[in-house]
Amino acid sequence: MTDKISEDKITQVRDATDIVSLVSQYLSLKRSGKNYLGLCPFHSDSSPSFSVNPQNQYYYCFGCQKGGNVFNFLMEMEKMTFREALVFLAEKAGIALPSSDADSELEREKEALYFVNRWAANYFYKNLMSASGKAALDYLHRRGISNEMIKKFGLGYSLPGWDNLIQQARKDAVSPEMLLKAGLMIRKSDSAQYDRFRGRFMIPIISVHKKVLGFGGRIIQQDENQPKYINSPETAIYQKSYILFGLYQSRQAIRDQDQAIFVEGYTDLISLFQAGIHNVVATSGTALTPFQARLIKRYTENVILLYDADTAGSLAAIRGADIFLDQGLEVNIVTLPAGTDPDSFIRDYGVSDFKKLLQQPSSLIRFKINILLKKYDRSSSQGMTQIINELLSSILRIRNSIKQNLAIKEVAEYFSLEERALLQQMQTLSRSPSAQPFSREQKSSPTQTQTKTKSKYEIAEEDLLRLVFSDSKWLPEIFDYLKLDDFFDKDYRQILSYLLSIYDQDQNFDQATVLKSVSHPDVSAKISSLVNRTVDESVDRWQLFKDCVVILKKRHLENRLHNLAQQIKSAQEKETETDIYLKQYRRCQQELKAVEDRVFFKKDF
Ligand code: GTP
Ligand code: MN
Repeated sequence: MTDKISEDKITQVRDATDIVSLVSQYLSLKRSGKNYLGLCPFHSDSSPSFSVNPQNQYYYCFGCQKGGNVFNFLMEMEKMTFREALVFLAEKAGIALPSSDADSELEREKEALYFVNRWAANYFYKNLMSASGKAALDYLHRRGISNEMIKKFGLGYSLPGWDNLIQQARKDAVSPEMLLKAGLMIRKSDSAQYDRFRGRFMIPIISVHKKVLGFGGRIIQQDENQPKYINSPETAIYQKSYILFGLYQSRQAIRDQDQAIFVEGYTDLISLFQAGIHNVVATSGTALTPFQARLIKRYTENVILLYDADTAGSLAAIRGADIFLDQGLEVNIVTLPAGTDPDSFIRDYGVSDFKKLLQQPSSLIRFKINILLKKYDRSSSQGMTQIINELLSSILRIRNSIKQNLAIKEVAEYFSLEERALLQQMQTLSRSPSAQPFSREQKSSPTQTQTKTKSKYEIAEEDLLRLVFSDSKWLPEIFDYLKLDDFFDKDYRQILSYLLSIYDQDQNFDQATVLKSVSHPDVSAKISSLVNRTVDESVDRWQLFKDCVVILKKRHLENRLHNLAQQIKSAQEKETETDIYLKQYRRCQQELKAVEDRVFFKKDF
């Protein structure tokens, strides 16, 4: 997709962006001769080694040697892809980018959703600040949420009537269809429609790109018949398994402190912010997903889970912890006293007690031991085996072997067991079917029976989709290595993007639900065919997965190399700067080599 955008457009966007003001949004720069200097945001820098050259619109760090243009800066800083950085800056500069038809349709829908959500957020905010919002504002103040926090989080209020938002939309010429699409309105029939959020204090969910993706709404007047919180439904822009609430406000602090605290509730997060603790994100009551773990990994590898003391909270923490371990993150757990949550704790005991609590996190293993001791009977050998096996299943996920070893030691010491025995048991477990879901014998490829000749690329795309339909766990695995654009089949892209939006780690995709979401007959035919030709049981799925990823990844990189070669050639002809392309070319070549050698897989399958 990137390749379709002309070099001219890219240059236009780059030239329209001022690197000094872009960088200044992240660090403070001081003028020094022709350049600007600041503390490097990419490594821990004690004296200013980060220099920005406004004339050539470049940055360079003399410490860590990172450098580049405005796109590189955003790619490094916000972990955007090139395309995302381009789109982001183009939008800021008011430059329209061309895109393919399929994309532009989806893009237009997304833009419309961003627009209507922002409009609604403003409306809710105004309500809160108006006379009719007094009760809500009092409620927030009673909870210790200041006006400053209200502003920072863009909090608002949805009035108690049935159709206040709908009426406002009419005045502001916002279409009811858009309200419906954004999930702000519920339609029972053509004549019966009403606001989804009524009489709630509204919490906009803001992306790191500062877009309003959706809302959470908390009831203000206790009502047994109403859920305490409701959220926007899933839309093209709001997919809860991808979102961490508060990340927009907290990402800089998370980066600076190299640590992220995970809480469950919206109000927990706001309360911590109010108390000056800014490196927090909230999962908003949903179980943690691998996507969220990956998302946080862009900013830090150190995570503290701060969950309620109740059992549900502990179980959520354990499951969450395993997901973090799978992503190679370091996890510690802080348990709050029974009956408190982060919000109430900080208000009852104050920040300094809270900080003390944070300083004594328990290791995941220690935490898990406590929970397992409540669940199983340690005095029976069966119970003991369960405890050890569940502990080892977490330890198996730890990537760093030193840390893995320390965890084994911890368990051995706690239960007075031989380390060797544990290691042995761990090896047995790692070979068992549950740890390694599929047999390893390689049989004939399941696609060989097909009659129509397909390219190896088409087959690879198809096999990956068949894997996903056989078990949803393949979805995050795939997107660990590939992007949606790496699939050339547009129907597959559509199917995958839908699956991503409904992804739930514990549930396989139900064919009927997926089919209901598509209208085009070709796409439904494809889905049926994928679902009905599941991957043969005898096939080693990890092997198949890796083969497909390598094929598609190679195609992507080879195309990129080709394009870069052309860019270099034309730059040479025009006698303009080629350095940046050459650098990208070399990086791309290295990447290709890693793919060919299969050393780019993060896991040892
Ligand atoms: P307060 O009662 O306002 O302090 O909220 P809380 O964050 O303490 O709520 P709680 O611990 O009960 O829930 C944690 C999170 O789960 C909330 O922030 C919500 O995101 C979510 N949640 C809680 N209750 C509901 C509910 O009834 N429906 C839905 N969809 N989500 C809920
Ligand atoms: Mn609470």
